[in-house]
Amino acid sequence: MKNVGILISGRGSNMVSLLRSMKDENHPCLPRIVISNVKDASGLQKAKEFGVKTVVIDHKESKTREEHDKKIIDALNKENVDIVCLAGYMRLLSSLFVQNFKNRILNIHPALLPSFPGLNVQKKAIDHGVRFSGCTVHIVDELCDHGLILLQAVVPIFPDDTEETLSQRILHFEHKIYPLALRLFAENKFEIEEKRAILKITNKEYENLVKNLMWNGE
Ligand code: GRF
Repeated sequence: MKNVGILISGRGSNMVSLLRSMKDENHPCLPRIVISNVKDASGLQKAKEFGVKTVVIDHKESKTREEHDKKIIDALNKENVDIVCLAGYMRLLSSLFVQNFKNRILNIHPALLPSFPGLNVQKKAIDHGVRFSGCTVHIVDELCDHGLILLQAVVPIFPDDTEETLSQRILHFEHKIYPLALRLFAENKFEIEEKRAILKITNKEYENLVKNLMWNGE
């Protein structure tokens, strides 16, 4: 069993998709703790409804990023957390944090990395006129929205899309790929190389997997 800690800052819909998936009795992971840096994040209540321990570690109560991250590291270590999932966690991680959980921190980003890292990326994709966007689950390194890619899902951008309609279409797939990526990761299905993570499944298995990771009119 792998112990999972989830970091949130807001509504936590990706957190819910992860917690829901871990309800499966054959799942290799156990959710041990949800930590929010924002005390009134609505995701906290949702985590409680899943019976998961919640903790608020307000960044405003620390003088430096390292000091804040150290508190989070301690809380995660107390629960023997093996894998950290960022789920709408709106803070950059210090190198201290990344090194502590090296290659064991996952993040979901609402664009096809390495395109459009950062904030408001659905709007940036529309403004740029790209025809497809999507979402990416990746391993977190020291750079923002950067690191080895684990899974991606693809959606079209329609001529009349707004930031809201595109965000909604992408979010639907975020909720699919994050649980999937976590499970594959926990099952050691990714071989971590220096520049990429190789998915150790057959072409046939991959074909079946990606069928569900492409928009088909939903
Ligand atoms: C998601 O779009 C996620 O990709 C991004 O922040 C948003 C968080 O939403 N990192 P939620 O809190 O999971 O609902």
